[in-house]
Amino acid sequence: MSEKMKTLTEPFKIKMVEPLKVTTEEYRKDVLKNAGYNPFLISSKDVFIDFLTDSGTGAMSDKQWSGIMMGDESYAGARSWEHLERVVKDLTGMPYILPTHQGRAAERILYGILGGKDKIFISNTHFDTTRANIEYTGATAIDIIYDEAKNPENDLPFKGNIDLVKLEQLIKEHGKENVAAIVMTVTNNSSGGQPVSMENMLAVRKICNSYHIPMVIDGCRIAENAYFVKHREVGFAKKSCEEIAKQMLRLGDAFVMSAKKDGMVNMGGLLTVKDEALSVKCKNLLIISEGFTTYGGLSGRDMEALAIGLTEVFDEDYLHYRIRSTAYLGEKLKAKGVPVVWPIGGHAVYVDAKKLYNQIPVNEYPGQALVCDLYIKGGIRAVEIGSLMFGKYDEKGALIPATNELVRLAIPRRVYTQSHIDYVLDIFDDILELRNQTKGYKITYEPPFLRHFTARLDKI
Ligand code: F0G
Repeated sequence: MSEKMKTLTEPFKIKMVEPLKVTTEEYRKDVLKNAGYNPFLISSKDVFIDFLTDSGTGAMSDKQWSGIMMGDESYAGARSWEHLERVVKDLTGMPYILPTHQGRAAERILYGILGGKDKIFISNTHFDTTRANIEYTGATAIDIIYDEAKNPENDLPFKGNIDLVKLEQLIKEHGKENVAAIVMTVTNNSSGGQPVSMENMLAVRKICNSYHIPMVIDGCRIAENAYFVKHREVGFAKKSCEEIAKQMLRLGDAFVMSAKKDGMVNMGGLLTVKDEALSVKCKNLLIISEGFTTYGGLSGRDMEALAIGLTEVFDEDYLHYRIRSTAYLGEKLKAKGVPVVWPIGGHAVYVDAKKLYNQIPVNEYPGQALVCDLYIKGGIRAVEIGSLMFGKYDEKGALIPATNELVRLAIPRRVYTQSHIDYVLDIFDDILELRNQTKGYKITYEPPFLRHFTARLDKI
């Protein structure tokens, strides 16, 4: 495919459609108010463009749907399991493969075993469920990306990298025996969907070897990351994305994957490990809480679709379209003057709400204000990745804000066409026009963990 192509044509055609309801601004104002200004609590029928997540929201291919019909629903040793196991062994090079119902189930099992009081986990950035599963065991989760990557404007090729200097400092400071694992999130979701370089992963592997610390790869977007390595890192241009992903995954001691992303399925997860003793512990927990080792909470048809999805995701035309179509939205927003995390990441465009709504202080959640405006103006559902998601309180109850106040526009795989994206761009014209009138929000209800999912807010 030509890079110069002006229209980014989707490399697929549509065989089945799902109607979208067109609503009015008045209607959406009511819906949002009733949902406590939290779009997680809105019914999807009231959403026009759903950018809440790229997780489990993709469209499966005709081949995957045929796979659904071929699913073997046997309790033990199902054909579909054998198919999935074969594909995942080939991809990861790891001998022990455990299916789980989604990514966080794999996290709960693995971190439940590795974690515990006084343990620390160090990551480029722990995703929110990863952090929650780690903290739930009494352990501490520490994020260390490079300082220059924290600036949303810095144009660097691998802003997902872990800070190698801080990593060694932390290991020495806490003692290697207390570091339960180094978790590499690939691509780095919470810091902007930014890629991690092979060089950085190799360096982490070396550090893990010298201190005898396990390296976990949280690789739910491993194919998207491979595309960036191919196009940005010296020495990879001639390799296929699949070869690059395989090379990277072989660096880890364990791999956790929410298959709802690059697995191209609506539900599913994976946990793979190299060490036999660890695999036995994991399998025991899997059987207690998820299901037998050859289905782990998935039906045979789910596993069949996942085995096919993990192959399809490495189609070079698909990956080119995927990464370029995300960049299409991001580049056009930037050209309009919307501050976005730069460069554009793989699965989502992240808008810098602190900058866009600089009249709203961080303790009034500028990101959530943008989320609400996008819904009211265009029926667009997005998610705040800022102080509502990551904020904590000090002893006096004052907010300790997140580093950035971002809004994520996550793009489902193979779902929206360029005209949907152009519609979103039009809505941003309205947002830019009204940016100075927008006010902040206050929280009226919040749970102790992962508060952004169920919190309720009110306008200030
Ligand atoms: N790790 C990363 C990097 C993720 O992005 C996610 C999910 C998980 C783990 C957990 O997987 O949802 O299957 O249990 N991310 C979704 C998102 C929810 O919207 O980014 P899960």
